[in-house]
Amino acid sequence: MIAGSRIALAVTGGIAAYKAADLCSRLVQSGAEVEVIMTAAAQRFITPLTFNAITRRTVHTDSWAEWTSDAAGHVSLASRIDALIVAPATADSIARLAQGRADDLVGLVALSTEAPLIVAPAMEHHMWRHPATQANATLLRERGVILVDPEHGRLASGATGEGRLADHSRIIGALRQVLGAHGVLAGRSIVVTAGGTHEAIDPVRFIGNRSTGQMGYEIAATLADRGASVTLVSGPTALPDPPGVETIRIESAAEMFETVQRATGAADVLVMAAAVADFRPAAPATGKIKKQPGQETLDIHLVRNPDILASIAYPGLLKIGFAAETEDLIANAQRKLRDKGLAMIIANDAVATIGSPDSQATMLRPDAPPHQLPLLPKTELAGLIADEIAVLLAGIRS
Ligand code: C5P
Repeated sequence: MIAGSRIALAVTGGIAAYKAADLCSRLVQSGAEVEVIMTAAAQRFITPLTFNAITRRTVHTDSWAEWTSDAAGHVSLASRIDALIVAPATADSIARLAQGRADDLVGLVALSTEAPLIVAPAMEHHMWRHPATQANATLLRERGVILVDPEHGRLASGATGEGRLADHSRIIGALRQVLGAHGVLAGRSIVVTAGGTHEAIDPVRFIGNRSTGQMGYEIAATLADRGASVTLVSGPTALPDPPGVETIRIESAAEMFETVQRATGAADVLVMAAAVADFRPAAPATGKIKKQPGQETLDIHLVRNPDILASIAYPGLLKIGFAAETEDLIANAQRKLRDKGLAMIIANDAVATIGSPDSQATMLRPDAPPHQLPLLPKTELAGLIADEIAVLLAGIRS
């Protein structure tokens, strides 16, 4: 969704303006076409050249300069964008947006665009908490503006309080949600699991596997891009939380089971991309296990973990599983499809797939012949899985 979208980023005059450069870079790296608008005050903190270099586009600083032979000023800019983000939004710019002022380019574009408006305030905590600012923020929310509330922490004044610009991932998450609002999965609630699990042997050791979590993270992000409300239940991974996705981190299969049970509630879809440990140590040691003199072996008694995918079932829940196998791929996947009551299973070679950015998968459904896919980056495979989920939810068989 973000890739190929046209975003206007309005930078207003607060110290957090320097953070807008990084936000802008993240948007550009995600494939968005970003047009930056800067107020005069913002240019006291950071120069247009910075944004110019990041976006490779002229930065909009002057309402009058917008009028050229082929552009009708702010109206042209306002009509070609998919979203307007004001970040950082100062107390003054929030007041001006609330009043509908149009004496600078930010106000002009905000009034003339039909695109959704995302406002990320950043200011000193007294200013944020002031009833005037709060009233203006409430007014904007009531008008459908997405306010990405500031965070608590150290402020430029040296004080600690609520006023720091929201983390970029929250702003990009809000963008993902507004761009996906009319997506094919809008209104759907989906739980995705990712990564391996850690099964404790003692307080410092565990049994784990090589799953990186990438497949599940890609799926979660893609589903969110298409408008779904996504909860990602993740085992330990090195990956950052995907913006716009509620991410819950767990360690063991038992924790994953409990969390998925709670998260599914009334979800429409459960996608189990996690590599869940089949067994766990029966009785993890409470203290670190010490090797004894002359000891050559250590026996750890393992017991079976519950099968999350097989256990969770209720009418209307669409279940999608993964089968990572080293032999008899299709036959094993077909058995799991049936035994776990799945709408679809994605089968792939365990050794080739785990830890690789690519996957050669076969999609299996109960009512269709196996569909073998070419070797694809996991990002692309996630897109195909999301397409298939949309088709399954619509009750249409292709
Ligand atoms: O039976 P197997 O582990 O091969 O099945 C793989 C599928 O089942 C995956 O989707 C995996 O996430 C899920 N699974 C589960 N709970 C387990 C083991 C696997 O939900 N304990």
